[in-house]
Amino acid sequence: RKPVTVPGLRAMKAQGQRIVMLTAYDASFAWQLEAAGIDIALVGDSLGMVVQGHHSTLPVTLEHMVYHTAAVARGLSATLLVTDLPFMADRDVAHALEAGARLVGEAGAAMVKIEGAAPHILEATAALTARAIPVCAHLGLTPQSVHKFGGFKIQGREQEAADRVLAEALAVQAAGADLLVMEGVPVELGQRVTAALKIPVIGIGAGPHCDGQVLVIHDLLGITPGKRPKFSKDFLAGRDSVAAAIAAYAEDVRSGAFPAPEHCFN
Ligand code: KIV
Ligand code: NA
Repeated sequence: RKPVTVPGLRAMKAQGQRIVMLTAYDASFAWQLEAAGIDIALVGDSLGMVVQGHHSTLPVTLEHMVYHTAAVARGLSATLLVTDLPFMADRDVAHALEAGARLVGEAGAAMVKIEGAAPHILEATAALTARAIPVCAHLGLTPQSVHKFGGFKIQGREQEAADRVLAEALAVQAAGADLLVMEGVPVELGQRVTAALKIPVIGIGAGPHCDGQVLVIHDLLGITPGKRPKFSKDFLAGRDSVAAAIAAYAEDVRSGAFPAPEHCFN
């Protein structure tokens, strides 16, 4: 398999080829993603919830992210590795650059993901990009803002809020982001943002019109502690292996069968 690259992702969008992204937190699961031909592995700070058992992503530290990113990197070859800047690692440009240096230089990620579009986030996006660290933006239901939102709530439901998310998407692209994750927004907003941007938009609970999809692997395997989010699907149900579940997810994203209407917000 040819390695997935950052410029290659933009070519996939141009060609209407859907991008398949999935989280991984250790080398064994990374190897499963690699074997299934997943395009992008994400070391999400969701590990704070599904691995560490916290109720939010806020307790995750840069040390945790470096540790898990390095483990995942050892399991990958052609799959592109993206990793999250954890809570407050983006508090200013200097911290964001230090985190980027460690996650890319030391741990082996190819790209770092940052939540939001606040002025200091746009500044950090430009500063990382200028130093050849590609950035994945993350808008909509950004989990690090759980306390501001008052829970994990769908964003951009009102017209004004939707317009704001679209403006943020254009701003992160202008700041240099090479990829955007849109989480927890109505189908129509996912479609508007995807059409407006040159960079690929990867959705999670953002409808079927995005350039690709991402899921937390624990949701895909039906082993999420507590209730599985509405936008996710248990792909292991009715199948006999982890490999078959991941392969089915990849196939359904590429064919457009996932997400179905029951996984979407209107
Ligand atoms: O941490 C994570 O897993 C994420 C995805 C849900 C996009 O940010
Ligand atoms: Na995350």
